[in-house]
Amino acid sequence: MNESIKLLLLWLLLAEVSYENLAKLQIDNGREKRSVNYNFKDPEPDRLVEYYCNRSGPVEIVEQAEGKIITRFKGKSFYDNNQECQWNLAAGPGRRLQILVEQWRLQYAPPQALCDGYDHIKVTDSDGFFASWCQVLPIFESPFYISSRGQNLTVIFQSDQSNPKNQRYPGGVLRFRSFDANSCPPNWMEYNDVCFTLKNVGQVWSDGQKTCNLEQANLASIESQQEFDFLQTSYSDFSGNVWLGLNDKAVFGLVKWIDNSSAIGAFKALSAVKTDPFRHCGRVNFKKGTVEMADCETKAAVLCRTEKGKLSKIYPIPLFKTDKGNEEDSKKGRGLLLGVLIPSIVLLLIIIVAILVYRRRDKFSCLSKNQQTSKRSDENINLDAVSTAQQPTAPMIFDDQPQAFSHQHVAPPTYEEALQSDPIP
Ligand SMILES: *[C@@H]1O[C@H](CO)[C@@H](O)[C@H](O)[C@H]1NC(C)=O
Ligand SMILES: *[C@@H]1O[C@H](CO)[C@@H](O)[C@H](O)[C@H]1NC(C)=O
Ligand SMILES: *[C@@H]1O[C@H](CO)[C@@H](O)[C@H](O)[C@H]1NC(C)=O
Repeated sequence: MNESIKLLLLWLLLAEVSYENLAKLQIDNGREKRSVNYNFKDPEPDRLVEYYCNRSGPVEIVEQAEGKIITRFKGKSFYDNNQECQWNLAAGPGRRLQILVEQWRLQYAPPQALCDGYDHIKVTDSDGFFASWCQVLPIFESPFYISSRGQNLTVIFQSDQSNPKNQRYPGGVLRFRSFDANSCPPNWMEYNDVCFTLKNVGQVWSDGQKTCNLEQANLASIESQQEFDFLQTSYSDFSGNVWLGLNDKAVFGLVKWIDNSSAIGAFKALSAVKTDPFRHCGRVNFKKGTVEMADCETKAAVLCRTEKGKLSKIYPIPLFKTDKGNEEDSKKGRGLLLGVLIPSIVLLLIIIVAILVYRRRDKFSCLSKNQQTSKRSDENINLDAVSTAQQPTAPMIFDDQPQAFSHQHVAPPTYEEALQSDPIP
C-alpha cells in the first residue's frame, strides 16, 4: 500500500504543476503581444503646460489644445493627506477631450475596495460618464485612455488622512488633449467614417470591452471584406491575437457582434470560424489573417471601434445564456472542472487500481499458501474466492440468520430486553 500512496502523492504534485503551467501559459499568451506598441505615441512631454493641484479651488482649463494634470501640489514630489483637487476641462464648442492616464502611484487599496474610501482619481462629465480608480486596477494597464462624450470633463483627486510619513506617493499624471468632434480620437485610425484602434494589452474579453468603453467605443465588429483588408494591412506586423466583438455567448453556436447583429458572412476569414462549447469569444490574428473562437477568459490585445463624428451606443457585455447565468459562473464552473472534478476522477481511478493491485497481490500470496492443500486452478479464482480464502475460519453470514453471528460476540439479552424486542402478539 505504501507504493500506491507514493504514487498518489506524485500524481497530486504533477497535477498541481501542470495546472499552474496552464495559468502561466495563458498569461504569457497575453504578454507576448507587448513587443509592438501602437498606442502610446504622444506629444512631447516638455512642451506640455502642467496643471498641479490648486489649494484654493478648482483649476479651470478652458480651450487648451493639450496639457498635463499632476495631482500633487506644485513644488512637491509627493501628494499630501486630505488633498481634494479638481480640474475642469472645457474643450470648447465642436471639440472633445482625450485623456491619457500616464501614471497613478497611489497608496495601496485592497483589491475589492470601493475606491471612494481610499486615495483615488475620478473622471466624470455632466452627462454621467464616470471612471474612478485607486491603486488596484483590475482592468487597466498603465497607461490607458479615456475619451469624453461632450466638450467637458472633470478630473478629481482625493487622498485620505491615513498616509504615513514614511509612505509617500507621487500620485497621478494625466495628459489631455482636445480634438475635433467630427474626427476620430487622436491615435485612432479612420476608415469610411469608422474609427478603429488596437490596444496592445493582455486582457480577457469582457475587460477588453470595458477598456473600449472608456473611449466611448465597443469591441470591434468588422463588417465587410474591405474593412478587414484595411485592418489587416494596417496591423500586418502585429503577430498576437486581438479580441473582436465577436461572440456566441447568448446562443451557443450563433456567432454575433457585441451589438447582437449577425456576424455571418461579413468577410471571408469568418467562414472558417468553428464554434466550440468552451470557446465563445472571437479573436483575429492580423498577421495570419485568421479569425477563431477562443476561451473568453484568456488574454489578448483588443480592437475597439467607434463611429466618426458621433457617439457610439455602448453595448452591455453579453451574458452566457445558461441556467446559472453569467460569465463568472461559467468561469468558476470551468475552474471546478479543471481543478476539482478531473483530479477527483483520476484520484478515484488510482485508488481503484491500487486496491485491485493490492488485492491481487494478497490473492497470490494466499494462493501459494493454499497450493499444497487446494486443488483449485488459477482460472477458478475470483474475488469472492479470495476473500473466503483470506478468512478460512470466519463464520459465514447469512441474511436470514443474523443472530448466528452476533450471538458469538454479544452477551445474550436479559429477560427484560427479550420481552421488549420480542413482544408477544
Ligand atoms: C486656484 O484657485 C483660485 C481660486 O479659485 C483661482 O483664483 C486661481 O486662479 C487658481 N489657480 C489656478 C492655477 O488655476
Ligand atoms: C463646459 O464648460 C464650460 C466652461 O466651464 C461651460 O461654460 C459650458 O457650459 C460647459 N458645457 C457643457 C456642455 O457642459
Ligand atoms: C442581445 O440579445 C440578448 C438576448 O437575446 C439580450 O439579452 C441583450 O440585451 C441584447 N443586447 C443588445 C445590445 O441588444
